Amino acid sequence: MTAGPWVGALSGQVIGDYRLDACVGEGHFGLVFEAVHLGTGSRYAMKVLTPGNDAQAATEFDGEGELLCKLSGCTSVINWIESGSESLSVSVNGVAVPLPFKYHILAMASGALEELIVDPTRRQALPWGERLNHWRGAVKGVHQMHLNMVAHRDLKSSNCLLMVQKGNSEVRLADLGRSKDFANPPSLPEIEYISGRGDLRYAPPEHLWFQGGSTAADFRNADLYGLGSLLVELATGHPMTALAVGSWQDARSEGQRDFLSGHRRDLGTLRPRFSRAIEELGGELPPVIRHESIALLKQLCDPVPAQRQPRPPHGKRVAPDPGLAWLLRRADILGRRLNVSSRRPIYRSNKNAHRSAS
Ligand SMILES: Nc1ncnc2c1ncn2[C@@H]1O[C@H](COP(=O)(O)OP(=O)(O)OP(=O)(O)O)[C@@H](O)[C@H]1O
Ligand SMILES: [Mg+2]
Repeated sequence: MTAGPWVGALSGQVIGDYRLDACVGEGHFGLVFEAVHLGTGSRYAMKVLTPGNDAQAATEFDGEGELLCKLSGCTSVINWIESGSESLSVSVNGVAVPLPFKYHILAMASGALEELIVDPTRRQALPWGERLNHWRGAVKGVHQMHLNMVAHRDLKSSNCLLMVQKGNSEVRLADLGRSKDFANPPSLPEIEYISGRGDLRYAPPEHLWFQGGSTAADFRNADLYGLGSLLVELATGHPMTALAVGSWQDARSEGQRDFLSGHRRDLGTLRPRFSRAIEELGGELPPVIRHESIALLKQLCDPVPAQRQPRPPHGKRVAPDPGLAWLLRRADILGRRLNVSSRRPIYRSNKNAHRSAS
């Protein structure tokens, strides 16, 4: 059964203390509904794992609930209320069948960042100040997660939710199904970390070419690539891998051949492809932050994972940053530069007005 029939079967049903209203989102493993708490009338989002998914999907779903609970103090991660499971009598082809449903109750967002940037006309209309603000929100979310020893591992605009707060919309990270508490030992077979999982259009090169790993550094570096790719999405509507690699299927086959023959490709040889793609997309960036953004993207999306980390200033010993304070500072600098440049024309025109008056 695909998601479509589940929408009709679940809308209006009561699961736990909640009545399901409209379906507001769809993912690989389930559906997201607007849900009303029967006691208080408050509105939430209910993410439901639809029956028929494999055991791995159920484990990831449970893991998502545990991590959301662990991260419930993080202001840039979606608010988690509770998780549960319930058997529900659902009509399948006219026959009532009891089926098990797992669910998470989350704060209701107004939508996903993807909705603002996929359509080129809508994206062009989104001011760069707002795009940078949204990107900074995602960086803050990953910063908070890394401070709690959790890697996101699935960063993309459809997993960045927008919450309206006092008239402003703020990004909250969601979809932690593939996230990993890297304080714990690996829980999957090593090959899953070597080749990565999920939507490979967004995969970092080390996953496409079968060179991923399961150390904290591997997870942190993959998230840096994800944040670079998110900035690329905000500029172009496409993820970094799609622009630099083209066919991820070809890359994957190449990686698989390398892996099976025991050959370890130097990922640094991919750098010209990534640099070219980043230079080309530079035209989409505002001139005042173009140079700096291109340099930052080349760092975050370097095909060699360790090169994504900041290099300490020459001769200076710097304690390793357990979060991403350095990247938040870089985002702030970009934001300030953009702000100053947008104010400059007013200053100039005042100056001109003064000159012509004197
Ligand atoms: N709390 C929420 N409020 C409003 N919409 C939401 C919420 N959570 C998720 N959604 C919507 O549902 C979509 C799917 O949710 P999510 O990404 O968590 O599901 P998934 O099955 O894990 O997806 P994927 O296919 O990426 O693995 C999101 O892209 C978003 O549009
Ligand atoms: Mg998702």
